Amino acid sequence: MSKLFTKTALGSMEIQNRLVMSPMTRNRATDNIPNALMAEYYAQRATAGLIITEGTSPSPNGLGYPRIPGIFSTAQVDGWKVITDAVHARGAKMFLQTMHCGRIAHPLNLPAGARMLAPSAVAAAGEMYTDAEGMKPHPAPQEMTEADIKSAIAEFAQAAKNAVASGFDGIELHSANGYLLEQFIRPNTNRRSDAYGGPIEKRARFVLEAVEATIAAIGKDKVGIRLSPFGVFNDMPLYDAMEADYTYLAQHLNALGLLYIHLVDHSPMGAPTVPDAMKATFRKLFKRTLILSGGYDDTRAESDLATGKCDLIAVGRPFLANPDLVDRWRTGAVMNAPDMNTFYTPGPKGYTDYPVMKK
Ligand SMILES: Cc1cc2nc3c(=O)[nH]c(=O)nc-3n(C[C@H](O)[C@H](O)[C@H](O)COP(=O)(O)O)c2cc1C
Repeated sequence: MSKLFTKTALGSMEIQNRLVMSPMTRNRATDNIPNALMAEYYAQRATAGLIITEGTSPSPNGLGYPRIPGIFSTAQVDGWKVITDAVHARGAKMFLQTMHCGRIAHPLNLPAGARMLAPSAVAAAGEMYTDAEGMKPHPAPQEMTEADIKSAIAEFAQAAKNAVASGFDGIELHSANGYLLEQFIRPNTNRRSDAYGGPIEKRARFVLEAVEATIAAIGKDKVGIRLSPFGVFNDMPLYDAMEADYTYLAQHLNALGLLYIHLVDHSPMGAPTVPDAMKATFRKLFKRTLILSGGYDDTRAESDLATGKCDLIAVGRPFLANPDLVDRWRTGAVMNAPDMNTFYTPGPKGYTDYPVMKK
């Protein structure tokens, strides 16, 4: 008996199955505004139980990449409303992932007047893509003042309210993969000596305050968070206290009572392994919904659900390439392969043109 394809409760909601579409940046939001092409893409995949959107900025300062959407202007709220309506019509619930890129940005990608902010003025190694001039080295960000920190937290809370106004069922704070929230957690990017840096109690403060403010804005049943313990993406090296730091986060997030924790494991993509003990710690300490992600196929998804490792399974690339993933996995059909060349390019190619199965 499949658990994956059985409906279940997610907080006070019911979702049509336990399969979650992972957040995936696709860079189709011209001028940072969600559009009709994006509505078509998400609606095609709305047989999932829950769709989590691509990373979406709560602030002009957080728009680090070209053509990623925001959730801070009226046009953006209106654009997302069309998308949530299209997705809800096919039965999926939908959460918006709020992603503030922090230091993973370039001035050429930012709108006029926006600032590249981070806990400390530490540039990421390597380069990033800009539409204007191609690949460019990462510049050093500006160290945030306490006033910058307060306003960034207020932006997260306002973004959550805007998301609810757009018809989303909730939001996921992106505290994984090297973006602003994770930049506060990790000692390589957080060199502060004030109330937001130093020991984990202080490095975790920005994240916990952002969760608290978001819960105060829209309620704890509408707030999830994504974390990547042992993740190294975007120049975030491993360090000795990683497991202890994330254990602290698991405890304190549980105390705040938010709806879910969504753990990233990019070892199937060649990243360091996330120890089973770390996942088990989250399962033990966090009493609400746990989502696992990274390299899942249907067999492993059913197995991890059956053994109680988690409550829901999130899937990225297979959903990107197979709009009818639910049907394909149910019937054991052949899968389309994802085309990496069109992951981040504008337009419908490699976005809305993956074929569905013939019926
Ligand atoms: C094209 C692409 C874009 C992604 N963008 C995001 C993102 O915006 N936010 C995020 O948390 N993860 C992002 N990820 C990571 C995925 O959510 C997921 O963790 C990863 O693809 C591994 O899962 P999979 O093996 O099921 O694809 C992205 C992955 C891909 C392939």
